[in-house]
Amino acid sequence: MAVKVAFPLSLILSVAIFSFSSSVTAVQLDLIGRRKHPLFRKRDESGTFGNGSLALRNEQDLSYFCNVTLGGRDFEVIIDTGSVDLWVSGDVPGTKDLGVPMSITFAKGDVTGNINTAQLEFDGFTVQNQAYLKAETAQDVGDTDGVLGLGPSSASDVRRLLNSSSGDPPLDQIFKQNMNTPNFMTFLLSRDGTAEGSSSVEGYPAQLTIGTVTSGLEAILNAPKLPALTDQFSPLAQHWLTLLDADGIIGPDGQKIQTQTAIKNPTAGTPDQLHVMFDSGFSIPQLPGSIVDKIYGKIPGAQFFDDAAAIAPDLQGLENVWRIPCDYEVNVSFVFAGQEFPISPLDLSVDVGEKDSSGKEICISFFQQIDPNIEGNPNFGALDMILGMGFLRNTYILFNFGDFVDGSADNVADPYIQLLSVNDKSQNHVDFVNARLNGKDDDSSTHSSSRPALSVLVIVVLVMLLGPGF
Ligand SMILES: *[C@@H]1O[C@H](CO)[C@@H](O)[C@H](O)[C@H]1NC(C)=O
Ligand SMILES: *[C@@H]1O[C@H](CO)[C@@H](O)[C@H](O)[C@H]1NC(C)=O
Ligand SMILES: *[C@@H]1O[C@H](CO)[C@@H](O)[C@H](O)[C@H]1NC(C)=O
Ligand SMILES: *[C@@H]1O[C@H](CO)[C@@H](O)[C@H](O)[C@H]1NC(C)=O
Repeated sequence: MAVKVAFPLSLILSVAIFSFSSSVTAVQLDLIGRRKHPLFRKRDESGTFGNGSLALRNEQDLSYFCNVTLGGRDFEVIIDTGSVDLWVSGDVPGTKDLGVPMSITFAKGDVTGNINTAQLEFDGFTVQNQAYLKAETAQDVGDTDGVLGLGPSSASDVRRLLNSSSGDPPLDQIFKQNMNTPNFMTFLLSRDGTAEGSSSVEGYPAQLTIGTVTSGLEAILNAPKLPALTDQFSPLAQHWLTLLDADGIIGPDGQKIQTQTAIKNPTAGTPDQLHVMFDSGFSIPQLPGSIVDKIYGKIPGAQFFDDAAAIAPDLQGLENVWRIPCDYEVNVSFVFAGQEFPISPLDLSVDVGEKDSSGKEICISFFQQIDPNIEGNPNFGALDMILGMGFLRNTYILFNFGDFVDGSADNVADPYIQLLSVNDKSQNHVDFVNARLNGKDDDSSTHSSSRPALSVLVIVVLVMLLGPGF
């Protein structure tokens, strides 16, 4: 089967500012926030349920999309907690061009245009003059109408370029205009039924909520509050960061893996606590190389490749991967505030849907080595690892923005993150047996693929959010 190459745009590489127009300081702000009737539960065209939540579309477990409505037109955008600003490409009815050029550069590709304002409708809220980048050229950014950045707003380039709170990103605008709406967002990612392992949280569609939690998953409100760390290097490199427990990764052998932060003089946590970034725009989780080696290296038959092209030519471009036997069930958990979050084995190795020259199916590590230039590098912010979708599918997550919202009074509480595990180990095991072992819970079984023929492949161009100076 031909390998399907997907290029979801994960994290944004760098935000290069071409020029700066200082004439745009006084943008009129006339925000009105309003909610649809709370009893309105039927999903409207844009995917809004009307109860504070809106539907997400899962594209092959590699990207999650929702609609934002600008000037009355729906744009399907990637939800990205790893970036901050909203950009779309295409015509926006009634948009106002502010004449301020802006560009966002990705590892492969870029978008360029001017900052505009238009009426935004999102999850039942309306913002009259939402500032966003209207991309006039978008090169190699994958198949999307745009990206909705959901990160903390201190890193907003739109706001920086407008030099005004009128440039605040959508969530800040919504929270500022709806004082009765609690300052939090949650989302639940699903598994793609056409990919391996179709199990998803029973009865819950993939969804994003603002100011409310998905009914049935209210327990998240009682989960430990993980501190959302203020980036110690720069507000411009601010992400959704928290601390993993000391030695807080349980490897396949059930033992804790020793951890040590790469950040020099960390101002939060102890040196054996890794700084973790949660990123819904990043398909493949990125861990320190030594930890990845400890997870996959001892698996019988595991082989390391600097360049995955040596496994199969179609995998060219994928670097530093472990190949492991497809029928090996990798069990790993992460520990935050004493709570264990088991990861589905189907998120820990991925069947690329190809056979090698000897006819064996190819499975590779899905938790990969972070570029050593990134961990602990102040230009990227104070982070050791990036937990993307491969982690986030296993949890329901809540981001409380607290005083991360622009202009928040000092008395607003600190921001925090809450996690609720949405899978359990026995279900993970059943999913794995069904997907990889032909449904037979027997290690010696030769699996001849009971999976749907549409086994998805996943080569993702990993793209990293760079801080200022890049
Ligand atoms: C976005 O809106 C269009 C209609 O404008 C709809 O067809 C599509 O399914 C929506 N996408 C999501 C993710 O809800
Ligand atoms: C930004 O705005 C502030 C006042 O709000 C002003 O003091 C400052 O000079 C402005 N900076 C630029 C670069 O326009
Ligand atoms: C909103 O309603 C939809 C459809 O009934 C449901 O799936 C979803 O869980 C609800 N969300 C919340 C936040 O209650
Ligand atoms: C992974 O966990 C499952 C369920 O707990 C267990 O059945 C399986 O044997 C474990 N895999 C390995 C390789 O230990």
